[in-house]
This record gives sequence, structure tokens and C-alpha cells, in this order.
Amino acid sequence: MADQVCPLWMGYLLASPIRRWMQNPDTLLGPYIEPGMTILEPGPGMGFFTLPMARLAGSTGRVVAVDIQAKMLDKLRSRAAKAGLLSRVDARLAPPHSLGVGDLAGQVDLVAALAVVHEMPSCEDFFREAAAALKPEGTLLLVEPAGHVNAARFAREIELARRAGLHKTQSLAVRRCLGAVLTKKAA
Ligand SMILES: C[S@@+](CC[C@H](N)C(=O)[O-])C[C@H]1O[C@@H](n2cnc3c(N)ncnc32)[C@H](O)[C@@H]1O
Repeated sequence: MADQVCPLWMGYLLASPIRRWMQNPDTLLGPYIEPGMTILEPGPGMGFFTLPMARLAGSTGRVVAVDIQAKMLDKLRSRAAKAGLLSRVDARLAPPHSLGVGDLAGQVDLVAALAVVHEMPSCEDFFREAAAALKPEGTLLLVEPAGHVNAARFAREIELARRAGLHKTQSLAVRRCLGAVLTKKAA
């Protein structure tokens, strides 16, 4: 069953620069991002990871950030504008059951699912949509907070991803989280 959706006040905490001490976005995501990439980020919140990803993707890259809360996206857009990164961030409002990214089919290099899948009403539907959006051999980073997702639940998520064609290639070390790198099988 899905967890409660992250409230707005928590969005402010999650976007705090203090979090970088525990989870440094550049260290965590840098190895997976190259300039020019198209990145899909479900559940960006206020953009703790979005802005560093937009920087790493460079002026020819973009981050499509899809959230179900308009106020999270408002704050994300204003933070991106302040950082001079708004042109690289496509912030989209979606209903909980679908990211609505059919227009990105086969175009995405990286899906960064960071502390969000446990809030989704259907992991199966999410992994199916993410797999359809990814290029062959594209990467999905799955990170879940250990306080919400235990090892058994994380293993179930990995299994549902596998059924959608996304295979775990390695674990990802993130403090206070469970993490994995998944790859879409080449067609
Ligand atoms: C715990 S916050 C994490 C935010 C961000 N990824 C981070 O780590 O700072 C979860 C975010 O996912 C969003 N969310 C929850 N369910 C979602 C869904 N079904 N589709 C897209 N976003 C969702 C919430 O509105 C919230 O902004």
C-alpha cells in the first residue's frame, strides 16, 4: 500500500541545503549524468535533486520533473528561476496514477526516482511508464528512505521493476536509504 503523500512543510525541509551533508546530489547523481541528457524525475518536491541535475545536464540537457502537488512545483520553478536553470526544467503537474509522459517515449536517458515510489498508488504502473519513457539501456535510479521502506518492501519494488523490463545492475549507497541502479534491457 502507498504511504501518505509528503506534505508541503516536509517539502521545505527536504529542500534544505543542510541535507547535502548526508545526501550530496553531485556525488550521488554525477556518475549517471552527462551534458545533453534528458532526465525524468518523478516527485521532485521543491527540487533538492532537480537543480543539481539540471546543472549536470548542462544547457543542452533537461529535467522533466513531474509532481502531483502544484505548490511543490511552484516552489521548484521559483528556485530554478533564481538559480538561472528554469529553461532546463520542465515542471509538470500530473494526477497520482500516471506521470503522463507519453510524449517522452523512448527519449529518456535517466529516471531519477528519489524518495517517491513508496508514495505512488501503483509501483507496477510507475515502473511500466518509466520503462516506456527510457531509451534502451537507459538507467533508473531507485532510492527509498529506510524509515518508510524496509528491505522486504524494497525487494518487492525491485521485482516489480524487473517485470517491467528494468533490471537491477548494482546497489546504490545512500545514507539512511535503500538504493539500486536499474537498467532497461536493450530491445
Ligand atoms: C518525499 S517527497 C521527495 C521529494 C524529492 N524527491 C526529494 O527527495 O527531495 C515525495 C514527492 O513526490 C511527490 N509524489 C507523491 N506521489 C506522487 C506521484 N504519484 N506522482 C508524482 N509525484 C508524486 C510528492 O508530492 C512529493 O513532492
